[in-house]
Amino acid sequence: MHLGKVMVVFGTRPEAIKMAPVVKELKKVEDIETRVVVTAQHREMLDQVLDLFHIVPDYDMNLMKHRQDLYSITTGVLNGMKDILIKEKPDLVLVHGDTSTTFAAALAAFYQMIPVGHVEAGLRTRNKYSPFPEEMNRALTGRLAELHFAPTDLARDNLLAESVPSFKIWVTGNTVIDALLDTVRPDYEFPPGLEAIDFNHRILLVTAHRRENWGNRMRDIFSALIELVEEFPDVEVAFPVHKNPIVHDLAQEMLGGRERFHLLEPLDYEPFAHLMSRSYMVLTDSGGLQEEAPSLGKPVLVLRDTTERPEAVDAGTVKLVGTVQEKIYNEARRLLINQDEYQRMAQAVNPYGDGKAARRIVKEIKEFLYVRIGSY
Ligand code: UD1
Ligand code: UDP
Repeated sequence: MHLGKVMVVFGTRPEAIKMAPVVKELKKVEDIETRVVVTAQHREMLDQVLDLFHIVPDYDMNLMKHRQDLYSITTGVLNGMKDILIKEKPDLVLVHGDTSTTFAAALAAFYQMIPVGHVEAGLRTRNKYSPFPEEMNRALTGRLAELHFAPTDLARDNLLAESVPSFKIWVTGNTVIDALLDTVRPDYEFPPGLEAIDFNHRILLVTAHRRENWGNRMRDIFSALIELVEEFPDVEVAFPVHKNPIVHDLAQEMLGGRERFHLLEPLDYEPFAHLMSRSYMVLTDSGGLQEEAPSLGKPVLVLRDTTERPEAVDAGTVKLVGTVQEKIYNEARRLLINQDEYQRMAQAVNPYGDGKAARRIVKEIKEFLYVRIGSY
């Protein structure tokens, strides 16, 4: 029985990684027509993920512009989605997380009165400017959504506290764990390009890109890294630098050419995940890394003042350290010199899922479409 058409929309690297397992599961269901739409809010960083997971989009809005701002992405997605939605008339639009693509695509679907499913629903810091604009993007998407796929119990509780009815929420785990388990394997060998890294040394894996860290906060982060590398001769920094020129230019200015600093192009997900699994610890302001690194048993120092992912903090493998240079230096130094402290944080814990999140999501989508047919 034909159940209907599901349109999966995403635009950035992390959304693509986390939606890839859902697309794979959806495509296994013959009774569902799946359409993949990429806004291409990111270009190269998105294409890396599409290639790895063999996803060929049905629509590519090709929106990315260098140094784009929130207005241009939001209106570009909103207008671009209008034509696609009118032509395709999907029964459900699936969005992920908290980017401008997420919110604008959900709004576009709402304007056509098409129900929205929100994957990775219910994450909250309750500080509307941190992370910015993600906290508001996901809260607004939550208001628009009909189906809420919450990764954890805590995320479900956040939605219940906002009066989302419990029968519209499913705790599924986070699809990032599906993607990670699909990718990491013991016999992996790195492709050419990472030879300069000495894996006999302790590798600090660093990523940073958040808007609220642009400028002096990022300078502080980089200064702390310089202090650490100067103090510990067996420490190297591997930093795949985000394509955003604001991040890229500052990283080059402060860290370029320094001994034991490896400023890399954004890595494909496969080498990146293995680099994470072979690192000593992770310092990051990313959201996704806070979910992946704990399952690989890597301590994470989060370079932010707030986190919407407190589960691994509670489990003891993630610590929120902020962006003050001295604090970052002290916390990282402690993990470099105190092995008891390090071992306490380096436990593999997995509060974010068991690798079956996409299956659970697709099961509920089938149920939703089935009931919908019955109600016509
Ligand atoms: C976006 C999301 C953020 C998410 C992050 C993941 C918004 C507002 N921000 O932030 O929530 O955590 O992606 O990485 O939705 N660029 C390239 N090539 C690429 C990607 C980006 O050159 O493949 C450059 C472009 O100059 C672009 C700029 O980076 O204008 C910023 O991209 P944008 O998507 O606006 O913001 P991010 O900081 O990547
Ligand atoms: N990632 C990657 N290559 C890199 C850096 C990160 O594939 O060079 C992956 C990482 O494993 C995670 C995701 O990209 O799954 C995180 O993306 P990002 O930090 O851009 O966004 P956020 O998670 O903060 O939204």
